[in-house]
Amino acid sequence: MNALSRATPKLLGKTAAVTGASRGIGLAIAQRFASEGAKVILLGRNEQRLLLARNEIAKFSGVEKDKLQLELRLHDVRLSEDWTDLAKAHPNMDILVNCAGVTQASPLPRTHPDTITNILHTNLEGAIFGCKSIGRRMVYNGNFLGNPGGCIINISSLLATKGLSGTSVYAASKAGLLGLTTSLAAEYAPAGVRVNAIVPGYIDTEMTKDLGDLVEKMKIPLGRLGTTEEVADAAMFLATNEYATNCILNLDGGLSAI
Ligand SMILES: NC(=O)c1ccc[n+]([C@@H]2O[C@H](COP(=O)([O-])OP(=O)(O)OC[C@H]3O[C@@H](n4cnc5c(N)ncnc54)[C@H](OP(=O)(O)O)[C@@H]3O)[C@@H](O)[C@H]2O)c1
Repeated sequence: MNALSRATPKLLGKTAAVTGASRGIGLAIAQRFASEGAKVILLGRNEQRLLLARNEIAKFSGVEKDKLQLELRLHDVRLSEDWTDLAKAHPNMDILVNCAGVTQASPLPRTHPDTITNILHTNLEGAIFGCKSIGRRMVYNGNFLGNPGGCIINISSLLATKGLSGTSVYAASKAGLLGLTTSLAAEYAPAGVRVNAIVPGYIDTEMTKDLGDLVEKMKIPLGRLGTTEEVADAAMFLATNEYATNCILNLDGGLSAI
């Protein structure tokens, strides 16, 4: 049995765009949405990496090849024109996941100004551009076309609220995402557009692979890193639960509790 032979795939007929879809958490979310019947637009800066991501989804999503709806799109989240073009090409987007991100491992005084700018532009301003361009269409569709139900999911981080040396700019960008989420949840709700955030702790991806034994170092209560599939589960919950807006979902193996 594959995903589309199940009773009703939960995202059938929906269109979703995922930034950072070329690997890690974004790829897992794109894969899950595709396996639930959505048309998924994979956004990334590198064509080769996007092609590899598509192959991976085709291999593991469980969806028959002719039913899999994937679009690859070169897209730099820092460029507002890329967002404007995406909104023009897909005026009826149902779901946007802002997952693209870059990290930091340096004390602030030793962090180059270009690095600071890049982290803020990628992690925060990129998501703001997305919420503006795609969100504007979702709000219009909800208000004037009788098509409410747009959903935006921002991928924040536990470091937004839990201090860790060497991550100040990253933490600021991720805390900014939480402010963005809460404010827009209020602003877009009258049009039926929901805005939510996932707050992962440490997830097993490229981003964490060189950080040593995080389970031991960070004393993760559940004794392991999270998996990208577990973050994708959270994204599915937020994409499908129609009462969820301003839902800030911790997914950190208990780290936020200690
Ligand atoms: N892994 C964790 O433990 C963890 C914990 C908390 C939060 N997060 C957040 O979750 C998100 C995904 O993390 P991950 O671990 O999956 O990271 P990852 O494996 O390093 O992947 C990062 C993704 O971001 C994309 N990206 C970077 N800069 C971009 C830009 N300017 N425009 C478009 N795409 C860009 C990359 O795409 P290309 O380079 O192919 O363009 C790549 O797909 C990030 O926002 C991260 O901060 C991760």
